[in-house]
Amino acid sequence: MNATPLLFPGSDNTVDDSLFARIADDLLNQGYSICPAALPDEIALPLYQHQQELDDEKYTRAGIGRGDDFHKNKFVRTDEICWINGESHAGKNWLNWTNELKRHLNRRLFLGLFSFESHFAHYRPGNYYKRHYDAFKGEANRILSLVAYLNPGWCNEDGGELVLYQNESDMEGIKVIPLMGTLAIFLSEEFPHEVLPANRDRYSIAGWFRLNTSVGNKIDPPL
Ligand code: OGA
Ligand code: MN
Repeated sequence: MNATPLLFPGSDNTVDDSLFARIADDLLNQGYSICPAALPDEIALPLYQHQQELDDEKYTRAGIGRGDDFHKNKFVRTDEICWINGESHAGKNWLNWTNELKRHLNRRLFLGLFSFESHFAHYRPGNYYKRHYDAFKGEANRILSLVAYLNPGWCNEDGGELVLYQNESDMEGIKVIPLMGTLAIFLSEEFPHEVLPANRDRYSIAGWFRLNTSVGNKIDPPL
């Protein structure tokens, strides 16, 4: 049974509490949640449109962290990214929605999630992101990873799956097809994962919920 949709301020969208409840249950039981066709159309369609309209020059070659070197990057990942700052209507709606998800998960799971950062990613045919973790144990930085896919009509033969491995020694993994509206959510320190090359352009949003790790007057992450 569907929960009554709640209206949230500053937007004409609704929040599906039953989806948030399912994600919370999955995280509790297995540390990850894969939800096909889950991102509400009111959020997904404007994001899809917005990202189609982004000029190529808005995208930059993705890095893999502070002080990384280009050649190493190119070995690890070859996609291009564009950070979402909430300037567009589509971006604002997305950030409202992820904020509602954060509130729900904090209430249910006491995760202490504080801020959220996310970017569009464009993988051209043949692009990849090799097996990696989004966060390293002990750094208590990125806690929860959230990936949303924006590819209508994606077929199995198009490739480009996200492969989510259960742990360090898992070599098989779970394959996630990057079809429009699918969400993949997982604990950033626990699940190595990779993006396989596709034979068509592949669009996604990758985001991370972070703890408040501010020390003294250095605010990290920035609000
Ligand atoms: C990432 C990532 C997965 C995807 O950007 O860190 O793992 O399927 N993305 O786009
Ligand atoms: Mn990742």
